[in-house]
Amino acid sequence: MDLFEYQARDLFAKHDVPVLAGEVIDTPEAARAATERLGGKSVVKAQVKVGGRGKAGGVKLAATPDEAVARATDILGMDIKGHTVHKVMIAETAPEIVEEYYVSYLLDRTNRTFLAMASVQGGVEIEVVAEENPEALAKVPVDANEGVSIEKAREIVAQAKFPADVAEQVAEILVTLWDTFVKEDALLVEVNPLAKVASGKVIALDGKVSLDENAEFRQPEHEALEDKDSANPLEAAAKAKNLNYVKLDGEVGIIGNGAGLVMSTLDVVAYAGENHGGVKPANFLDIGGGASAAVMANGLEIILGDPDVKSVFVNVFGGITACDEVANGIVQALQLLKDKGEEVTKPLVVRLDGNNAELGRKILSDANHPLVQRVDTMDGAADKAAELAAAK
Ligand SMILES: Nc1ncnc2c1ncn2[C@@H]1O[C@H](COP(=O)(O)OP(=O)(O)OP(=O)(O)O)[C@@H](O)[C@H]1O
Ligand SMILES: [Mg+2]
Repeated sequence: MDLFEYQARDLFAKHDVPVLAGEVIDTPEAARAATERLGGKSVVKAQVKVGGRGKAGGVKLAATPDEAVARATDILGMDIKGHTVHKVMIAETAPEIVEEYYVSYLLDRTNRTFLAMASVQGGVEIEVVAEENPEALAKVPVDANEGVSIEKAREIVAQAKFPADVAEQVAEILVTLWDTFVKEDALLVEVNPLAKVASGKVIALDGKVSLDENAEFRQPEHEALEDKDSANPLEAAAKAKNLNYVKLDGEVGIIGNGAGLVMSTLDVVAYAGENHGGVKPANFLDIGGGASAAVMANGLEIILGDPDVKSVFVNVFGGITACDEVANGIVQALQLLKDKGEEVTKPLVVRLDGNNAELGRKILSDANHPLVQRVDTMDGAADKAAELAAAK
């Protein structure tokens, strides 16, 4: 889960990473009081989960409370790379910035380790530095068991060639930033810019944090950081039902068991769709192992509630969960939805294979639901589902 800058700022503050004061608001008028609390001037910063806000006009200085209201009026509602600005942060103005650096920690999956990255060429997009001037970006692996002690932090600072006057400060910040990374179960913490101001003090002026959702169970406070307003409503509904669902932009609803099977189902449907006017999968939905009728009903309910969906492909390979259970699940799910007054009107193509496939197929045939068709191969079923979606 990616956080907004103001949320990253709050986490940094909690773990003693030096930051400036800031508060988030969602109406222009609120910028006045917030700026007054900061002594009469502020920086108005768009809160969107996308980079390059400054360049897009989403970061503006305000010299007076009135100006802050005017800048907040400009920025709220603005579109930055497809993200609408619903909130702005009114931040304390950094006293004269003299240098801008970059520091981050991330999970380096390829090398099965954590990675510290640091550069004295911050402020700009770090991808550009990495591309054009790779030696200016130090990359130092961090052992998960050892973490970042002050000695390790000094090693990172030395590799990135930080100037001597800030080296110790940056090293201390790197230790607090590591603390943030570990204690918050983050996958990424990034500070860009880490700024040196005229007094010589180093401050985190912009932060990016991505939290590991797999750690939710031990991070009860993280739930409050979720951006419920801009979540896709179907994804939010699926999450509430504990389903593994991702909305995509096609027309064929997909339900399968097991992430791998569902992923390949997406490929097969996209491929089949090429022969039917370019229809594509409408979603990813993995109903997992024990696909009970209730889970199947929940899944179908989400998918059928998607106005983009024109047909549904249920692709199940029976393993631990036998196909007869899944077939019963489908039949009961259709009944359940009917009882709830949400009768199904979109065609379903069902492919059952694996454990107890014959029995499962028989259950579907006997149920003889007018909208359910059985196709016994994955390619054939994908083609049928794509054809039905295209015909709608
Ligand atoms: N509180 C502040 N006081 C003074 N100047 C600031 C402050 N915050 C940001 N700036 C200046 O604005 C620039 C851009 O700000 P910031 O890094 O927050 O946004 P961005 O880099 O455009 O956004 P993103 O990191 O999302 O791409 C900074 O490099 C810094 O020079
Ligand atoms: Mg930035």
